[in-house]
Amino acid sequence: MDKHNIKNYDELLKKSRDIEWFWGEVSKEVVEWYKPYKKVLEWTPPWVKWFVGAKYNIVHDALDKHANSWRKNKVAYIFEGEPGDRRKLTYGELNIEVNKLANALKTLGVKKGDRVGIYMPMIPELPIAMLACAKIGAIHTVVFSGFSAIAFRERVNDCKVKVVITCDGFYRRNKIVPLKSMVEDALQDAPSVENVVVYKRTGGDIPWTPKRDHWWHELTQAQSSKCDTEMLDANDILYILYTSGTTGKPKGVIHAHGGYAVGTALTLKWVFDLKDEDIWWCAADIGWVTGHSYTVYGPLILGTTSVIYEGAPNYPGPDRWWEIVEKYRVTVLYTSPTSVRLFMRHGEAWPKKHDLSSLRLLGSVGEPINPEAWMWYYKNIGKERCQIMDTWWQTETGTFCISPLPLTPLKPGSATKPLPGFTAEVYNEEGKPISNAGGNLVMLTPWPGMFRGLYKDPKRYEDIYWSRFPNTYLAGDVARKDSDGFFWIQGRSDDVLNVSGHRIGNSEVESALVSNSKVAEAAVIGKPHEVKGESLTAFVVLKKGVEPSDELRAELREHVGKEIGKIARPDEIWFVSDVPKTRSGKIMRRVIKAKAVGEPIGDISTLANPEAVDEIGRAR
Ligand code: PRX
Repeated sequence: MDKHNIKNYDELLKKSRDIEWFWGEVSKEVVEWYKPYKKVLEWTPPWVKWFVGAKYNIVHDALDKHANSWRKNKVAYIFEGEPGDRRKLTYGELNIEVNKLANALKTLGVKKGDRVGIYMPMIPELPIAMLACAKIGAIHTVVFSGFSAIAFRERVNDCKVKVVITCDGFYRRNKIVPLKSMVEDALQDAPSVENVVVYKRTGGDIPWTPKRDHWWHELTQAQSSKCDTEMLDANDILYILYTSGTTGKPKGVIHAHGGYAVGTALTLKWVFDLKDEDIWWCAADIGWVTGHSYTVYGPLILGTTSVIYEGAPNYPGPDRWWEIVEKYRVTVLYTSPTSVRLFMRHGEAWPKKHDLSSLRLLGSVGEPINPEAWMWYYKNIGKERCQIMDTWWQTETGTFCISPLPLTPLKPGSATKPLPGFTAEVYNEEGKPISNAGGNLVMLTPWPGMFRGLYKDPKRYEDIYWSRFPNTYLAGDVARKDSDGFFWIQGRSDDVLNVSGHRIGNSEVESALVSNSKVAEAAVIGKPHEVKGESLTAFVVLKKGVEPSDELRAELREHVGKEIGKIARPDEIWFVSDVPKTRSGKIMRRVIKAKAVGEPIGDISTLANPEAVDEIGRAR
């Protein structure tokens, strides 16, 4: 047990019952405040403040403290580009890059509290851009580079971004994705954006708007490599990250400097037991919360060496990841069940070609890991030596909440138990804890990495997460707690789908379809899918006079790709004359889904148009 970061688990668990005292105590292990806090926790449900009164900036712990220590020459990021180019950046080098960009942002007038939109692929300049914003107290909002120009614009306009940071393009399956062209489209209608900083990744011609656009290398060239880190309040906003909800409008989840720093660093230290000699690879894209918390902030605070890989997992061959693990001697790999299932489909011969003996621990996130994928991962990647940490958490929670530790027992398929300092429960509809039956996954007490609200929408924050049960966080997941207290997450309880570990709202895709001039109405459901977990199926009612055709199907798929991004393109589109609705006009997705996958449809007496159900059945 001595080899683990957590020395005395039972004692830690006991101490953690007093959450305020506990988080104050353990925070000392990972953060250094500029000025100490007066109070650990201020909880006026549903509003929370952690480390009240402390002066702080997350960049101090993520960068400044390492750049002034022996870790200055330790590698922070190992980067592998899809074409095979490689770079290593030490903490000292990373610090210089961040300082230069931070100074450059200041010359563009970026100040504390301003929003900076970052639309970048998996290259080291993405964390550099995030850290440069945080350093000067600006709020970053990173948009996943797989999202479309329209989706980017929607987010930019929602939080009134002042400066955009992007790159000319990036590599994906040996093609160049023209990101700057997409930015150009997006900014056709984004009046708040004053300047655009463009990093040159691929070279080649790109659209350019003089005065507004600046090359990263030109802008930073003359800047000083020193820049003071802004002394903020520990509860100042660090970032906004948009995530899908049950309406067509994404939610801007807010995280703050102090609590998030404590939460990300400690949960990572506990669950993956990171030590200075580890090579950590969180393979998620930084555009999602997993990358924010566990490629950028958590590992940097711990002074870890992390891998960043730019490209597709199976390019040029299905062993690209295993080649990377072998080459850099990765010790801990953290990925999603959907990626495991993708590799599983390619077969075990691919990982066998490589020496994976450096691995000591594996991780999983994004959806429940099914037994086949668990076994395959355990046998073929971990060689039956590495345990699998199945971590449950969300964009809103900011950090792992329910997860095993390398020293606690596992039950494959279960995220096991709440971590020390977290109090998860399963509630029935009356708000009573239940065991051995599906119910609402809730959190009874606040935790440091939790979100601080939805950007400019306090009411939506209160309604969605805090109105169902008093003073209790509703996660929106269905879970079961077994007799041993292990949690089994069963999926979303709301109208949100989980496609390849990514949250997509049914209504988001429906809105995208309906925005096509040929579509009158659309209903979108998820069907079980071997690799993606869920695949999108759309039932579309066309406008009068429009003829259904395969060409139109392809056109609508592309249309959704343009509106949201490729991940949201439906796998199947069926043309129907009507979709089942209640008398008040609400689309009955539950009935559509049951009919489409061949399950009992239950009570349909409230339907205004029961005949529409038969048509769905015929479309199966
Ligand atoms: O349904 C749960 C599922 O992913 C949702 C959160 O999605 P997002 O905010 O995009 O963050 C994903 C990465 C943290 C949850 O509500 N989920 C996440 N982890 C697990 C999971 N479902 C089961 N097991 C998990 N380990």
